[in-house]
Amino acid sequence: MERDLYAEPQHVTSPDECYFYHSMDVPGAVITVDNGWDLRPNVDRYIGDVSLPGKRVLEIGPASGFLTFHMESNGAEVVSVELAPDADWDIVPHVLIDMEKTVQERRAIMAQLRNGFWFAHERIGSSALVHYGTAYDLPDGLGRFDIAVMASVLLHTRDPLQVIEGCARHADTLVVTEMRFPELEGSPVARLYPTPASSQWDTWWSFSPDMLVQYLGVLGFSECVVTDHEQMHVYPGGHSQMPMFTIVASRS
Ligand SMILES: C[S@@+](CC[C@H](N)C(=O)[O-])C[C@H]1O[C@@H](n2cnc3c(N)ncnc32)[C@H](O)[C@@H]1O
Repeated sequence: MERDLYAEPQHVTSPDECYFYHSMDVPGAVITVDNGWDLRPNVDRYIGDVSLPGKRVLEIGPASGFLTFHMESNGAEVVSVELAPDADWDIVPHVLIDMEKTVQERRAIMAQLRNGFWFAHERIGSSALVHYGTAYDLPDGLGRFDIAVMASVLLHTRDPLQVIEGCARHADTLVVTEMRFPELEGSPVARLYPTPASSQWDTWWSFSPDMLVQYLGVLGFSECVVTDHEQMHVYPGGHSQMPMFTIVASRS
């Protein structure tokens, strides 16, 4: 194993140093988000009910690591790829935002997000490895994987096809999870998310499952199973069930 590919686990003393994206059960701490996701009730559907025992899993974009630790606790060996401190989020260059300020604010949140991952990693006793870099450039040294999981990450990338292609080079089975937009279904389309009127800068695309299935087929992953499910989005003062889909794609 090439140790220098992987981050040294960090000791984070307090949740106050962290930003959490997932609600999680962590020994000695109750992590309940008020703006994020609680995937606990329906996590197996979120990852397409893939079989995990004994599998080597590449996870793109773990955020707080709820999926990482869930997959590991179900028998997988997990390597997660997260944005490095010097690898910026693909920020939409929207005319209404102050780019420099947005970059700095996102860097600060990402530092807290990485802290949250390590806070949970240590308390859970996780052995999951983390490569800090970018999904656009997966080092060969990461090796081969049985499964690559791209959950709620492609929508945030300017070039989702490159991310899928990179994972396809490393893994035998690809899992893609995205929000479901019924009006897009039936056509192989990706709809541009930003509009001139909306200054949301962290999201690029809404996909139809057909578009992703078609491209996965282009890459030789022509055995695709698409399932619909709902996941709990938590926001200040409430929560709602959000429609999503997951594709599990294998080479034929
Ligand atoms: C919306 S969160 C999804 C978290 C988790 N996968 C889940 O489904 O709950 C997106 C994650 O992808 C990461 N991310 C965004 N762009 C990335 C890139 N180019 N390379 C690697 N990770 C990226 C973010 O930092 C974050 O951890």
